[in-house]
Amino acid sequence: MKNKPWSGRFEKETDKLVEEFTASIPCDKRLYKQDIEGSIAHCLMLARCGIIKMAEAKRIVRGLKGIRREIEDGKFKFDISLEDIHMNIEKRLIDKIGPVGGKLHTARSRNDQVALDIRLYLRDEIGEIIKLIKILKKSIVRKARDNIDIIMPGYTHLQMAQPVLFSHYLLAYYDMFERDEQRFTDVLKRVNVMPLGSAALAGTNYPIDRKYVAKLLGFLQITTNSMDAVGDRDFSIEFISASAVLMMHLSRLSEELIIWSTFEFGFIELDDSFCTGSSIMPQKKNPDVPELVRGKTGRVYGNLMSLLTVMKSLPLAYNKDMQEDKEPLFDTVDTIKASLLIYSKMINTIKFKRERLKDVVKCGFMTATDMADYLVMKGLPFRGAHEMVGKAVFYCIKNNRLLSDLTLSELQRFSKKFKRDIFNYIKVENSVNRKDIIGGTAKKQVLKRIAEIEKAMKCS
Ligand code: ARG
Repeated sequence: MKNKPWSGRFEKETDKLVEEFTASIPCDKRLYKQDIEGSIAHCLMLARCGIIKMAEAKRIVRGLKGIRREIEDGKFKFDISLEDIHMNIEKRLIDKIGPVGGKLHTARSRNDQVALDIRLYLRDEIGEIIKLIKILKKSIVRKARDNIDIIMPGYTHLQMAQPVLFSHYLLAYYDMFERDEQRFTDVLKRVNVMPLGSAALAGTNYPIDRKYVAKLLGFLQITTNSMDAVGDRDFSIEFISASAVLMMHLSRLSEELIIWSTFEFGFIELDDSFCTGSSIMPQKKNPDVPELVRGKTGRVYGNLMSLLTVMKSLPLAYNKDMQEDKEPLFDTVDTIKASLLIYSKMINTIKFKRERLKDVVKCGFMTATDMADYLVMKGLPFRGAHEMVGKAVFYCIKNNRLLSDLTLSELQRFSKKFKRDIFNYIKVENSVNRKDIIGGTAKKQVLKRIAEIEKAMKCS
């Protein structure tokens, strides 16, 4: 029992298999920076409160900074028998500076220490993720502004429905990512709460100053119940939940980019630099990036389910089960950061196939609703108008015609109210530009929205 900080109560060595099974160091070494940052703050507080001497604190802080350098230079030897990052660093500290290093853990437990480390880690990562969402939003708006005149079919049930501006479609995703950003900002409020001082579960006998630690580490609040503080992983669950919604949005966009770059749709082309080929079929250019993002959505959903299940029914306060929180959390952070980064780059390279889109939007009877509205304008009730245009569409399908190339007298067989101006009325551009209400697809409205977003971006 040479090297275990908790060896006092034990007679026998830990079984090798148990050591390996219970260790979290291969995963939680990632928290070394936060662990050291938290320890430095804790140590300065101990000195300030007179629990250790200032000279001792200085030696401890110097030792911790040295360990940080060792880790960053790849010189630190992580030891699985020391279980986790907290004990690895503490043991090294004692080896480095002697028994005084053993004073660092006064008034602290690994239970509040790990809670602090994860919160510090997540706080930084959420900041990075919000930056990446902002970059993605920016590339979407730029794409929308640069391609303001392109009309595409809008779909419901993946059946052609009504013409919309491609920019309007892109801005739909802008709004989704805007909400994602808001969700992460909101999660951050609950992450940014300082748990240290809760110790194992009950608080501590020492006269510590928790608010001072919070101030040193830039936390706005401290936790108010020691049992909750060490037993809580809601903030990680909320984070993965916000990530799952973000991935769901990315998976929808991915699905559409994949469909639209098929020969059959042919609306867009993804850049060569973002596609890969096939080892057997020479003609292939595959949309691997959106496909993988779509696939990785499953990972993040799985991580959410995993952490929810780890926490389910756990009695208060800390249980070792909770050590299983880190892998799903880290994997979620890695997955969403990589997906956001590659997406903001890929969006910039999408090319629209303008000629193809011009042909496509003429088909599919997408201005049939406009035709019905035309009759309503001429005094018919909407239901009757719907029925008449439905018959006209049926006639077109049978005779392989488009509504726009029926003659006036053909149209008048369905309603006498049709006059020559109907042809202008059902042009796709006019259909789009008549949707001139806030939130509608008229060019005027979309440009207004782009200007609004660009203004907000300048201010943020
Ligand atoms: N490695 C542990 C974890 O990640 C740290 C807390 C351990 N506490 C304990 N009493 N075993 O959850």
